[in-house]
Amino acid sequence: MRAFVVRELAHPSGINLSHDVPEPTAGKDQVLVDVYSAGLNFFDTLQSQGKHQSKPPLPFILGSEFAGKIAQNSPIPEGCPYRPGNRVFGGTQGSFADRIAVNWNELLPLPDNVTLEEGAGLFVTWPTSYQALVGRAGLKSGDWVLVTAAAGGVGIAAVQIAKALGARVIAAAGSDSKLEIAKRVGGADYGVNYSKPGWQKAVLELTNKKGVDIIYDAVGLINDSLKCIAWNGRALVIGFAGGAIEKIPSNIILLKNISIVGLHLGAYKRNEPECIPLVWQKIFDLFTSGKARPVTYDRIFTLENLSEGLGAIERRETWGKAVVRLRKDEVNEKAKL
Ligand SMILES: NC(=O)c1ccc[n+]([C@@H]2O[C@H](COP(=O)([O-])OP(=O)(O)OC[C@H]3O[C@@H](n4cnc5c(N)ncnc54)[C@H](OP(=O)(O)O)[C@@H]3O)[C@@H](O)[C@H]2O)c1
Repeated sequence: MRAFVVRELAHPSGINLSHDVPEPTAGKDQVLVDVYSAGLNFFDTLQSQGKHQSKPPLPFILGSEFAGKIAQNSPIPEGCPYRPGNRVFGGTQGSFADRIAVNWNELLPLPDNVTLEEGAGLFVTWPTSYQALVGRAGLKSGDWVLVTAAAGGVGIAAVQIAKALGARVIAAAGSDSKLEIAKRVGGADYGVNYSKPGWQKAVLELTNKKGVDIIYDAVGLINDSLKCIAWNGRALVIGFAGGAIEKIPSNIILLKNISIVGLHLGAYKRNEPECIPLVWQKIFDLFTSGKARPVTYDRIFTLENLSEGLGAIERRETWGKAVVRLRKDEVNEKAKL
């Protein structure tokens, strides 16, 4: 089978696709999944160079999230609700491959109204944004929410979730074209471009000098954003896409009567596993009601050119989730209803 195998640590642009990789065998409690599409992430580029905290032993297959179908010849372990042909999605190391072996209880059923292509980028982005806004920041209808990197993977999910729950959403991004996407595709009410100094003034004007109740920041713009936070505001620390980990002066937290709130989705499995299915149910309800929709970048990559996709992420060109298509047929079909 084909797989993007990292045999020596290197930038993905220096790695060739392997065509003769042995098919995986399913271990205890595992099923085989034919991968139809896989999500691309910035950390894939870090991991292939050995610069990410997760360092699988060499050789390893790159990629961490996917959507696909249970393979026709997959074993079905006792208790596993899936059957060959069922559409599933999940997150596990090695998704840039035609087939993957994965514990069945780490899979989720792909909702009927979500395509296999859209499913590739759901696993991390949507629960991160939902749990951050609702579970951690206590979002309420009518709140003002500022989302940085608002056209990005977690950002455009956050914009849609906040809108669906009745918030007034200000998208913040590094270019006017991304603001246009956050508004047109994500449904944000307003946009501010943080590449322009003084952008916080526009936020204060939009909120009638009050400031925003919630800041959702995946970039590392907390300090900048605190200039336009409201009394009792909550600033969500989601990520550091800009590359720097900020130091936040604690006197500002006191003086502005605000909370700085973290969210680490990956640690929920260990610390609060009961929360995860509840969050997914809320997300699936949003998809079913049509109030939210997974967003994929308009250029779809292939296993052969996936390093171009990872390069586009590095250059900040992508919006929504960039995905790789592995199987041409059916990938854009919705499940037969
Ligand atoms: N806390 C958690 O559990 C959790 C879960 C998922 C993801 N994350 C983190 O959230 C962050 C965003 O993830 P994502 O999937 O939304 O990524 P993404 O789709 O690649 O979006 C990242 C965006 O960040 C902005 N950005 C600003 N400065 C940048 C720089 N120097 N280099 C690259 N991008 C820059 C860019 O938007 P503009 O061009 O508009 O500035 C870029 O499009 C990542 O740091 C990720 O690790 C955290």
